[in-house]
Amino acid sequence: MSPVSPDSPLLLTPGPLTTSRSVKEAMLRDWGSRDREFIALNAAVRQRLTALAGAEASHVTVPLQGSGTFVVEAMLGTLVPRDGKLLVLVNGAYGERMLEIAAYHGRAATALRTPEDVPNDPEALDRALAEDPAITHVAVVHCETTSGILNPLAEVAAVTARHGRRLLIDAMSAFGALPLDAREIRFEALAASANKCLEGVPGVAFAIVERQALLAAAGNCPSLALDLHDQYLAMEGNGQWRFTPPTHVLAAFHQALVEHEEEGGVEGRGRRYRENCRILVAGMRALGFESLLPDALQAPIIVTFRMPADPAFRFEDFYDRLRRKGFVIYPGKLTVAPSFRIGCIGRIGAAEMRRAVAAVADTLREMGVASGRPA
Ligand SMILES: Cc1ncc(COP(=O)(O)O)c(C=O)c1O
Repeated sequence: MSPVSPDSPLLLTPGPLTTSRSVKEAMLRDWGSRDREFIALNAAVRQRLTALAGAEASHVTVPLQGSGTFVVEAMLGTLVPRDGKLLVLVNGAYGERMLEIAAYHGRAATALRTPEDVPNDPEALDRALAEDPAITHVAVVHCETTSGILNPLAEVAAVTARHGRRLLIDAMSAFGALPLDAREIRFEALAASANKCLEGVPGVAFAIVERQALLAAAGNCPSLALDLHDQYLAMEGNGQWRFTPPTHVLAAFHQALVEHEEEGGVEGRGRRYRENCRILVAGMRALGFESLLPDALQAPIIVTFRMPADPAFRFEDFYDRLRRKGFVIYPGKLTVAPSFRIGCIGRIGAAEMRRAVAAVADTLREMGVASGRPA
């Protein structure tokens, strides 16, 4: 799928990630931001994204310049009213970040925490919503990239809807590879970005928002540039962005969405990532490594491995040696245990995953590490 070389390494990370040559080539021309052709391209990107969420009847897609955090902040700022209250389901850094954003915005917020290797607890959510009628919105991270855990989105959505509250989803590292359909899961908005499972380049993010909720959100957002209501109204008005759009990034994103469809959409993309994940986990376990999560909780996005106990193993050395072989992995982000992560997403397939596992085996041999077994 993609050549491996130290000059152009494979990114086994949660993004930015390895993209296809054709996605990169889509950036080789310039676009006038107010030109009819660019306006049509932008409309096509928005339309494709809304359709991917099965949300054409109810939601609209609002793109935003910047990384994923920009759109998470825009979603919370635009949709949680000044007198609203947010409950965040936290089992990793991205849940914690939503709490931090609410604090910046001066919005009332509370957390319902589980450990990093334990999914969100829908029963505890049920009790919390029954006990606190002030909570207007629930925020959930579909795949918590901190550990790679899959959270029980359908159950969380059902509990939230039963209590008449609104659901905001950080679907950053899942959208495009894990099913999320507005006709089956009730949500007010989700946030995601181009450079994860959709395999675009970084620089643009988007929210898919219930149209009525967005129209009702005038004046909520404490930020001008991050106001999704204004961004939407301006774009609906003349098809243009309020402020300079990331034109080349959008052209690449359009190409990435075409390739996503050609692969069989969410189902096809998810299938390839699941196979990548299976090869990675089986190969690493054969070398003695232990994944943090049991298979049932593991999303096929990124896998956390516990740090080996062998005194000859030093992570920086391991990382550098793999990098020289053409593979970029990711440090751990867990607070509970020393770890590192290897991603399964991006324009990589079974052959690349096998080469990555072989490179890990070679690297352990070079370092004199007998096994990847943790303490
Ligand atoms: C679940 C989740 N939310 C939010 C973010 C933040 O995105 P960014 O780093 O692009 O700002 C990430 C990034 O990996 C993520 O995985």
